[in-house]
Amino acid sequence: MTLRFIDLFAGLGGFHQALERLGHTCVFASELDPSLAALYEKNFDVVPHGDIRDAFAKVPPHDILCAGFPCQPFSKAGDQLGFDCPQWGDLFDYVLRILDTHKPNYLLIENVPNLVRHDEGKTWEKIKTRLESLEYKVDLGRLSPFMFGVPQVRERAIIIGARNGLDDFTWPTPTHRLDQVSINSVLDKSPNDARPLGPRFIQYLETWQELLDALPVDEALPSFPIWAMEFGATYPYRDQTPHAIGFGSIESFKGALGRSLKGLTAQEVEQTLPAYARNQTDSFPEWKQNFIRQNREFYKRHKGVIDAWLPKIADFAPRSC
Ligand SMILES: C[S@@+](CC[C@H](N)C(=O)[O-])C[C@H]1O[C@@H](n2cnc3c(N)ncnc32)[C@H](O)[C@@H]1O
Repeated sequence: MTLRFIDLFAGLGGFHQALERLGHTCVFASELDPSLAALYEKNFDVVPHGDIRDAFAKVPPHDILCAGFPCQPFSKAGDQLGFDCPQWGDLFDYVLRILDTHKPNYLLIENVPNLVRHDEGKTWEKIKTRLESLEYKVDLGRLSPFMFGVPQVRERAIIIGARNGLDDFTWPTPTHRLDQVSINSVLDKSPNDARPLGPRFIQYLETWQELLDALPVDEALPSFPIWAMEFGATYPYRDQTPHAIGFGSIESFKGALGRSLKGLTAQEVEQTLPAYARNQTDSFPEWKQNFIRQNREFYKRHKGVIDAWLPKIADFAPRSC
């Protein structure tokens, strides 16, 4: 049976790729980023609408709603504002509006795995309750592409829902272990239509490779995310946060990339801290404290190497998601 699906926050079209392969038809897509939208059109011959806030009324009837709504507000690497995020926090409401209007039989939503833990589980509870109030039975699984033979480790929270219940649904059983996939399986040495990486990206890669090459050979690669902003930073993060102490009262410490806070105004101090350390909270969650501690310990172990290398990344953009 051919089903009609819509692809909200379509990105590169992961949902489209999968559902088209299964014989289903895309009847609507929405993607804000014009370059992604252009690529989507090229790959799938569907012109995505732009901002879903403007386009939601144009959504046609459909059987499956797919939505990979922006993960930044829920990601560990972001500010964790969740549904209060001014830029993206309202987007899930549009998903609900569309579900309420068209009542498709099925829904498929993806987001970062931290969605489950965000706000001590209250965010996921809210999402579940709201979907259930629209008469969907929902379930959540955590899957990563490598489990199915695609050489990428990118765990995602996958939410599935069906109006007629999930009794017939089972999560797919992984077919691969991590040591059974290799990036070489998808790399082509001389592809015809390859587009070269821009010089800036090559600079990023080469600069990080320089650090890896300079580390002692017996140093295992970190198992925690590298937050280079912590290299040289000394601002308090354990018992109190910069916000709790007052940005104007921490000028004896160092900010992102070891920048001195001396003589700066409170506002300048705030701007000199990593974005994830500016939250208006009295204590950082344990996982954040752990990442900061691990990065500072890593820096301490390799101070000589890192200090010589650090200026090279001073103007790299910080990661958001
Ligand atoms: C997590 S990505 C989705 C990834 C997608 N599932 C895929 O397979 O590539 C979220 C996407 O939502 C888009 N987006 C953000 N705000 C939007 C909005 N208001 N309307 C439509 N798309 C939006 C972003 O540009 C981004 O490509």
